[in-house]
Formats: sequence, structure tokens, C-alpha cells
Amino acid sequence: MKVAVLISGRGSNLRSLLEAAAEPGYPAEIVCVIANRPDAGGLDHAAAFGIASQVVDHKSYADRAAFEAALTEALDGAGIDLICLAGFMRVLSGAFVRRWKNRIVNIHPSLLPLFPGLDTHARALAAGVKLHGCSVHFVNETVDGGAIIGQAAVAVQTGDDAESLAARVLEAEHRLYPLCLRLLAEDRVRLDDGQARIEGTPEAGSALFSPDLSA
Ligand code: GRF
Repeated sequence: MKVAVLISGRGSNLRSLLEAAAEPGYPAEIVCVIANRPDAGGLDHAAAFGIASQVVDHKSYADRAAFEAALTEALDGAGIDLICLAGFMRVLSGAFVRRWKNRIVNIHPSLLPLFPGLDTHARALAAGVKLHGCSVHFVNETVDGGAIIGQAAVAVQTGDDAESLAARVLEAEHRLYPLCLRLLAEDRVRLDDGQARIEGTPEAGSALFSPDLSA
């Protein structure tokens, strides 16, 4: 499976995907990285792994349609099967999403459908949830609303602030995204009535308790 990764910033999730894809036998190949900002730190990760990258700067285009046309041209040129959004901070139009129907996935730093949108860690703390985490999901026309492929839960700890919580969720993201991409590339993800079903994987082990059962 040929994959494009779209980024806007530091690209630590991109790096985790590049590392996974460099492992022998990993079924997906990252063929291009596209950033919508010329200063995206993640471009350095692409260079370090010898992967072609391009900047499609949204500021250089009159409107979203023109930006997305340039994006589509870059993606078509790369001959890709799947788009992975990894900290890509532009909302994609319905037309773009339909053009790549069920071929765009994203990683989001919350246990969806809780906390779609921005500032997820601060919002999780404000809500007092005991478990937080991250989700990999298909992209549809609702922001952070597509079928969930996989999730990782992280316990909120006493004294957490948004930064410390974000750091632990990010570690989980770096494990979850390569796993989900592998399942997609192995054709083990089935969309059925708006839900993603995973074939041939062990069910997750036990429940994660917070507070811990030893309390
Ligand atoms: C991650 O937390 C991701 O879940 C969110 O944006 C952040 C991107 O981080 N969509 P990075 O650029 O991958 O380091």
C-alpha cells in the first residue's frame, strides 16, 4: 500500500510511521510527505528517511478549493492508495473527502467521540475524565467524526496538566498509528454500516481501570 502523509508541524507521528515502514515486512510504504507549512519540522523526518516531500502552502492559494486542487495534483502524481493525516491542521472540504472516500485516515488525541476538535487534553482535564487517549479514524465530512479504527487509552494522573497528559497520549499515538496503518495495509479493516471492523486481530486484553484495582 502506497501512503502519503500530510503534516502541518513537528511530525512526531510521521516519524513513528516512517520508523514502522522501515521495518522489514511492514506492508505499507510511505511514498510522499506533504506539508501545508514550509516551516513544518516534520519535513526533516522525511528527509532523514530519504522520502520525497513537498510543501503545498495553503497561504499561496486564493481559497480552499485552489489549495485542495494543488494537494490533489501532488497526491495524484505520487500514485498513492491512502492518505494519513498526522497533525495536519487544515479542515478538508466535503469535495476532497469524497474524492478520497474511505482512503483518508487521521489520528486524533482523544477517545472519540469525546473531545473532537482542538485543546483535547485541557478539555479532558476540565471534564474530569479518568481515562483519556487517542483514536485513529477514517475521515468523513464531519470533523473527527469518521469510523474509529483503533484507540489507545491513557489514565489521567493526579497533578496532570495538559502538557504532561499530552506527552503520555503522544507516546500512545506513536504506537497506535503504525498498528492501524498496518491493519489497513493488510486489508483487515472492513467498513460495515459506518463502523470499522477489524479482521483477524486478537481482542484487547483486559479493562484498564483508573483508579487502579489495587487502590
Ligand atoms: C498529535 O497529537 C495528533 O494526534 C494531532 O496533532 C498532533 C500532531 O503531532 N492530530 P505531531 O506533529 O505528529 O508530532
